[in-house]
Amino acid sequence: MSKTTDNLQEAFAGESQANRKYLAFAKKADEEGYAQAARMFRAAAEAETVHAHAHLRALKGVGSTAENLKSAVDGETHEFKNMYPAMIAAAEAEGEKEALRSFKFANEVEEIHAKLYQKLLDGLSKDMAQYPYWVCPVCGYTVEKEYPERCPVCNAKGDRFIKID
Ligand code: FE2
Ligand code: FE2
Ligand code: FE2
Repeated sequence: MSKTTDNLQEAFAGESQANRKYLAFAKKADEEGYAQAARMFRAAAEAETVHAHAHLRALKGVGSTAENLKSAVDGETHEFKNMYPAMIAAAEAEGEKEALRSFKFANEVEEIHAKLYQKLLDGLSKDMAQYPYWVCPVCGYTVEKEYPERCPVCNAKGDRFIKID
């Protein structure tokens, strides 16, 4: 792997993290009543997305939708089969309760993501049935078509789910 490929991967990871961090900071700034700081965090977050996407394109990291669905299945599968189980075991051993809850929620949801992506990959067609997804704002549980009365992963109320239309 060339130095530049390494650098693109590092820069993609850093810009991606900055994007999510700034969005979290913007939410906090709004909660604290600092609307202008919130705006600047959101502006920079948007710019970091531009940087992250450019780095990813330079890495040839975006393929056809069929290729991207396969890549998504592989990534989610790695997370729920290998990455999170090891992290859950370490958090249990270290008594890190908040991290444990966070890892467990993610672990359950990544397995569902892998299935949802695989289903799309199996039936991929431009005239396939169209329906929304719903996402739990607490644990990220993701479901097709209708939100449940209660989240099956974290028990949050279904009417809090975010619609992805
Ligand atoms: Fe940036
Ligand atoms: Fe996921
Ligand atoms: Fe949930």
